[in-house]
Amino acid sequence: MAFNFFANPHLHFGPGHINRLPELITFHGNTLLLITGARSLQKSDHWPRVMNALKKKSIRVYQAIVETEPSPSIIDEIVVKYRDQNIDVIAAIGGGSVMDAGKAVSAMMKKKESIIEYLEGVGNRSHDGKKIPFIAVPTTSGTGSEATKNAVISQLGKNGFKKSLRHDNFVPDIAIVDPELTLDCPPDITAACGMDALTQLLESLVSTNSSPMTDSLALGALEILGDALITATTKHPHDMGTRTKISYASYISGLTLANAGLGVVHGFASVIGSVFNIPHGVICGTLLSEVTRHNIESLISLDPNGPAIKKYARASRLLSPSPVSKNHEESSRHLIKILAQWTDQLKMPGLGSYGVTLEDIDTIIGSTGQKNNPIRLSAKQLSKILQDRL
Ligand SMILES: [Fe+2]
Repeated sequence: MAFNFFANPHLHFGPGHINRLPELITFHGNTLLLITGARSLQKSDHWPRVMNALKKKSIRVYQAIVETEPSPSIIDEIVVKYRDQNIDVIAAIGGGSVMDAGKAVSAMMKKKESIIEYLEGVGNRSHDGKKIPFIAVPTTSGTGSEATKNAVISQLGKNGFKKSLRHDNFVPDIAIVDPELTLDCPPDITAACGMDALTQLLESLVSTNSSPMTDSLALGALEILGDALITATTKHPHDMGTRTKISYASYISGLTLANAGLGVVHGFASVIGSVFNIPHGVICGTLLSEVTRHNIESLISLDPNGPAIKKYARASRLLSPSPVSKNHEESSRHLIKILAQWTDQLKMPGLGSYGVTLEDIDTIIGSTGQKNNPIRLSAKQLSKILQDRL
């Protein structure tokens, strides 16, 4: 057994933990660049409380707003604007895009070049990991960016890309995961982000690069998550206990994806998300059940008692509200049923509603990486998955 593991040096998890932000900032200094999204946070009750608390601690606040998935020009503009302001610490409060933007800005503040030169598969420079201290505070439960070492940077369009700025040092220095911040998250965003977290847990669990450490984290998070996504979206959206379960699963999914890797769903998401304007969680959420179906059926045909099937079977028992067979083959097939049912219940939209057509399928599958998927799916299988989720 041999593996590496990277995680946040400091995690503050639980309802009300946002109140610790000012104190945590002062460990690094008193000049803050605060990065937020455009809307919901400023309208919430949390905003005046956070701003007043920062004022009380005499923290000087510069603020940047990131409204879309971060592009190279968005990051470059923020860096150029604030590079000479002696920023001591950067905090990002928002969804995955806002946290990725904060992570990227903190990494680029000590560099003179455009971020493009450091992006994997795009630029030619490798980053030395020097950055400004960074605090990540998620307001949605999904990407797990608060726990990962990469920032996803997107350029939309025909020659678009979705690439990472990555370094082990880019794991946020502090993550504040406060489920209270997610209480008002609308059902469609809760569903899409939650399905992204579920995808990340399942893909890292069966990843070819998983370790006993990532396995135990992923299995523990799946057990806590259970059917909380259904409860939060269809029954009790303001239940703190349910939101706490989803926040935990989301945070752990970031840890496991960063340390074990991901599979075909995220392979698809990085290609589709760079050409079409579809939220990442929607792509993952809509494809998860069909990709899992093909993974499980292909793995069973090779060996119905293989290691990945045993893991899928365990996940099935942890997620199912009712008892599941002890037989690995039956139990893993039951997981396909659960995921298909949740895809319907959570009303995950098909890719066609965002403009993806049959004609796009060959181009998409031509560029889709299979990453750390437990089995290699054929082009025919990849095509069938997309056709079934148009
Ligand atoms: Fe994801």
